[in-house]
Amino acid sequence: MEPAPRFTPRIAHVSSADREFVSRICTEMTLSLMLHREIHSVGNRRREDRRCIRSVTSTYVIYGGSGGIGSAIARLLHEQGAQLHLVGRNESRLKKLAKELSAEFIVGDVADDKLFARVAEAVTQPLDGLAYAVGSLNLGSLRRLTSADALADLRLNAVGAALAVQAALPAFRSSSRVASAVLFSSVAVTQGFPMHTSVAMAKGAVEGLTVSLAAELAPKVRVNAIAPSLTRTPLTSTILSSEDQASSLAGLHPLQRLGTPEDIAELAAFLLSERAGWITGQVIAVDGGRSTIRHRG
Ligand SMILES: NC(=O)c1ccc[n+]([C@@H]2O[C@H](COP(=O)([O-])OP(=O)(O)OC[C@H]3O[C@@H](n4cnc5c(N)ncnc54)[C@H](OP(=O)(O)O)[C@@H]3O)[C@@H](O)[C@H]2O)c1
Repeated sequence: MEPAPRFTPRIAHVSSADREFVSRICTEMTLSLMLHREIHSVGNRRREDRRCIRSVTSTYVIYGGSGGIGSAIARLLHEQGAQLHLVGRNESRLKKLAKELSAEFIVGDVADDKLFARVAEAVTQPLDGLAYAVGSLNLGSLRRLTSADALADLRLNAVGAALAVQAALPAFRSSSRVASAVLFSSVAVTQGFPMHTSVAMAKGAVEGLTVSLAAELAPKVRVNAIAPSLTRTPLTSTILSSEDQASSLAGLHPLQRLGTPEDIAELAAFLLSERAGWITGQVIAVDGGRSTIRHRG
């Protein structure tokens, strides 16, 4: 069989004007190909950046997120780029703050067991942490204590915290990091104050819960508690309504002032973050020295 004739381009017969035209077209095609590749790789880089940003965005649930301390924690975490779910009873307060912080919110009462399952359902992404900043301050003498009041305080402060962490466990497990729970105790557990029986019992239970959960959930979840002294929030507005009383209470603290929600939020945000990655099972006082220092006499 005859070999197929070889195709030989007859470039020699192309005029110089045509050659120039072909060369220009080739250059333009090469440039457009390079441009296309660059656009494509910029697009890929942007997609990778977005994936990267998504994967470093932390997600937190804040029970009591509209309260004095809870909202300060929420604002600080928002500044740090976190995605938030706020929980509380008052819808309009939650809605307003959620709008400000581009957060989600869930309305409900921690006295209702079903709330915790609703929160778990609402949080569809992996959860990196939870703060339980719900509490009560029912002061009164032992003579006036009823079991109903004491059990309500226990339920709100300690049992609610346990159920909140329990409901968060599946979402904690899907976090790529060690998740963190921050609970709230009070200076009134370390330092005895008259009229604090109910709240001190309830917060004492929170401290027991903190170490017990920290042991049970390690190494996947860290659990710590913050024990504040008097901090200006809606919870303490009655006690601090008189400026004279507020300044004499401030004077009982070695650091000579009352706490601010931001004082407490700084530690909460730190404990929730990976920067506190080797801290668990601790109850940390943020109290102007009130629990450990006797500065007079
Ligand atoms: N402020 C202090 O001096 C002080 C001192 C020691 C310890 N602590 C502790 O610090 C934590 C935060 O206190 P805070 O001063 O920020 O109190 P706060 O201003 O009264 O805020 C409490 C938050 O909890 C929510 N909440 C209250 N009861 C609830 C319930 N039954 N179900 C669902 N949400 C409820 C409130 O929202 P809704 O009203 O909308 O439900 C609010 O968002 C508490 O655990 C408190 O015991 C505070």
